[in-house]
Amino acid sequence: MTTAGLTQNPPQSALMRPKQTIQDITDWQGVRAFVRVDFNTPQDPGTGAITDDSRIRATLQTLQYLQSRGARLIVASHLGRPKGKVDPKYSLAPMIERLRTLMPGVSILAAPAVVGAKVVAMAEALEPGEILVLENLRFEAAEEANDPAFARQLGQLADIFVNDAFGAAHRAHASTTGIAAFTPHHVAGFLMAAEIEALSQVTYHPKRPMTAIIGGSKVSTKIGVLNQLIQTVDTLVIGGGMMFTFIKAQGGKIGNSLIEENWLQSAEQLLQQAKTLGKTLVLASDVVAADAFSATAHTRVCLANDIPDGWMGLDIGPESIRAIQSAIQASQTLLWNGPMGVFELAPFAEGTHAIAKTVADWTKNQQGISVLGGGDTVAAMEQFGFSPDQFSHVSTGGGASLEFLEGRLLPGIAVLDDVDSAVS
Ligand code: 3PG
Repeated sequence: MTTAGLTQNPPQSALMRPKQTIQDITDWQGVRAFVRVDFNTPQDPGTGAITDDSRIRATLQTLQYLQSRGARLIVASHLGRPKGKVDPKYSLAPMIERLRTLMPGVSILAAPAVVGAKVVAMAEALEPGEILVLENLRFEAAEEANDPAFARQLGQLADIFVNDAFGAAHRAHASTTGIAAFTPHHVAGFLMAAEIEALSQVTYHPKRPMTAIIGGSKVSTKIGVLNQLIQTVDTLVIGGGMMFTFIKAQGGKIGNSLIEENWLQSAEQLLQQAKTLGKTLVLASDVVAADAFSATAHTRVCLANDIPDGWMGLDIGPESIRAIQSAIQASQTLLWNGPMGVFELAPFAEGTHAIAKTVADWTKNQQGISVLGGGDTVAAMEQFGFSPDQFSHVSTGGGASLEFLEGRLLPGIAVLDDVDSAVS
């Protein structure tokens, strides 16, 4: 049986059993497939225009595969958090327009709602190779409540549930888990399969040495993943605004830099844990500091643990960049989640840019597997002009990829049929 690599490289964890994919279904002709995607894409707040369509493009392989084999597709996604109410601001209309551009010549219909008689009639009238996109699932409160009656309505539209929404796999909602009770088969799309494969590799069976580079502003959102990674990696690099909580926990003087006082103790515990386990923990030794959070602020490079009062660290400094580059060069597996500094402001972008270039070159020279994740990391890559194919895998998941890396079994993955269960 061939799958998108899942069976060739099965994850070691008992939590993570290999899952069936759309390639395990031999005949799609005329089959009604409910394809859950994650079209939760960033939009311009003024015009509603899509500012980054990478999540839509990431599902194209699955949609094209099914469409070209004569499946009748019912595609569904959430967008934003409209809290169970119809709100035109959160309509999937712009995503449907973009899909039409990306799949020229394919008949793509827009449903007027998520469920109801009109939607059922449209789904039943679909011809093989046609696609019907439902309205934003979260226009119905029953979606997030994982209401069985609503899940049944979704399930009744289709013969097979295809989950390609890795970005929403950590949510146990009607369209990601509940629907499985009302559809006989549940398989992963190509994107879901690729995400599982890449993230399983770094989580459960990395080639060593492995380095994880974790950045971003908040310890609170990353502490779960840091506590897990310290067990599995050889080297852990902590950058971004959250590094200052660790530097302060070591007794450093951080001036006006970002600090989460409530997480000082957790930071201390992690530092201690690294020592106990004999892991290398890399924190910035120098930073680019500024006298204001502004692109026009005065800046200076100073020691990360001796930042003058009134100054704040907003990027890692040149010596820190070199230390992280050495860690990268010595690795065979890299995981990167979270920027190294305030990359959106030019004076503080160099740390993130330099690490991105080093990781891209390292990947190009086939030194190992690089897995990137997190919305800010992806945004930084876009800003610097890197394309996803310069890395081994760029995850479309934010919260989902962090929870996966924490070693949790995500509900939207658990619901998929195991490879060793019966295949249709
Ligand atoms: C995401 O963007 O992380 C996913 O689409 C999930 O969205 P949510 O956090 O609103 O559930």
